[in-house]
Amino acid sequence: MRARRLVVAVTVVIAVTLPLSSVTMAVTVAANSTCSHAHPAKRQEQCDASLLPTAYPMTAMGYADFGGGPKAHVHSGIGVDRLRGPGGPAAHQFTLTAAMGTQDIGGAPRAVLTFNGTTPGPTLTVTQGDLVEVRLVNKDVKKGVTIHWHGVDVPAGEDGVAGVTQDAVLPGSDFVYRFVVPDAGTYWYHSHQDSVREVGMGLLGALIVLPRDPATSQWAGAATDAVALVHTYGTTTTVNGRIGTTYVTASEGTTARVRFINGDNGPVLVTASVPFRVAAIDGTDVPGATDLVDTYVDVPAGGRADLLIAVPPSSARVGVLGGPGLVIGPIDQPVAEVPAHQRFDALAYGASGGSAAAQATIGRPTRDFAYRIGSRTGYLDGRPGVWFTINAGIIPTVPMFVAHRGDVLRFRIVNTTAVVHPMHLHGHHALVVARNGVAATGAPWWIDSLQVDPGQSYDIVLVADNPGVWMFHCHNLPHARTGLMTHLMYDGVTTPFRIGRVNDRLTNEPE
Ligand code: C2O
Ligand code: CU
Repeated sequence: MRARRLVVAVTVVIAVTLPLSSVTMAVTVAANSTCSHAHPAKRQEQCDASLLPTAYPMTAMGYADFGGGPKAHVHSGIGVDRLRGPGGPAAHQFTLTAAMGTQDIGGAPRAVLTFNGTTPGPTLTVTQGDLVEVRLVNKDVKKGVTIHWHGVDVPAGEDGVAGVTQDAVLPGSDFVYRFVVPDAGTYWYHSHQDSVREVGMGLLGALIVLPRDPATSQWAGAATDAVALVHTYGTTTTVNGRIGTTYVTASEGTTARVRFINGDNGPVLVTASVPFRVAAIDGTDVPGATDLVDTYVDVPAGGRADLLIAVPPSSARVGVLGGPGLVIGPIDQPVAEVPAHQRFDALAYGASGGSAAAQATIGRPTRDFAYRIGSRTGYLDGRPGVWFTINAGIIPTVPMFVAHRGDVLRFRIVNTTAVVHPMHLHGHHALVVARNGVAATGAPWWIDSLQVDPGQSYDIVLVADNPGVWMFHCHNLPHARTGLMTHLMYDGVTTPFRIGRVNDRLTNEPE
């Protein structure tokens, strides 16, 4: 054990009350990793400086970034563990039991992780405004499990991030989530413990929130409403766990809605063999959506796109380009894929002027943040390599975005790397304002998962209306694990949980 300089503050109080320069402080840690002493002195020093404590609160993983707004003066805070959903009778109750298993994937048995015996887990269908209760039971997933409700603005204590909003649920234990589903739309759930491995092996499922009043949705009430959860097991890409074509019976002339959910680490390109509309993105309806032809939708990892078609007499194919899909209609026969050349662009799609109106409602930003994604060689927790950087720093030298409740936040996300980054912010819906400086002109483009291509910059705005400590990371989960992970935290909110090795049995590893 020895003292090392770390950009780690002992408590959130220190992290947010000290000026940035003094957040760097020496703490004594028992290291997870060690630096080999073979390095030249300078590198030895860099390596030592990168070592993370054995366990640390996420609110100490970087330096506070106030986005040019007032600094926070926090002398006490409420723990996220106290920001829980309401009590009282739940309208929907589910139990999800996580377990190891074997399942046929594309014709071969595969070791998987399941919820209630299958992967994907059961589709949970609930109604907007209802109180939902889900009991997570971990049968035998050794490292523990959590459930994150991707895209749903739940109270922070229900967000399901191991080491941030709860401890991972170990074998034989359980955890009860309770939250009101505020918004209708297509969402999903997945483990947020050891997620590269656990989501990869199958701990995921769809969460569909039906509108309380269908009259409020332009696209509600499709005769056929199908989930298409895309996930790749190893190298086998599936829709709802199946390869090839899944037939869905529907009558000619009726409307079918296919809710694509990208449960992969990379982009998923989807299209239809007939004209289609993008009725919703990341759960939110797109008013004024119009028919598209010769077009594919690039659904970011973690993102969702609902495609709406009119069912033709000969059935239609709605699926992954060159991959599995649904054939929807009166005839159960293969339908050839229709090539699609243009990439769907939400920036100028749907009711024109909608975005400007939504921005006016949100108001002017009170804090302005940069989220600049890069990469460079260096050390991450003592490991040499090429790591992702945020605003030029490698974890833990990354910004922690700080907000007060009621702030309007603007983020400029810039990707200076050569690979795409599907950026996901927990607990909030954000509005896309501009891409590469070009203003959004279509319907409001609300996201929780936004793909930022190499060289692109996006401006997004959001209202800070959900106090908590919220992950803001790349949903290419190996990227998150290799440094593309930080968070938005609210003034006066702390976390009693720790990332890393908490005790002999429990190591919280959100990615
Ligand atoms: Cu879909 Cu931080 O997760
Ligand atoms: Cu990424």
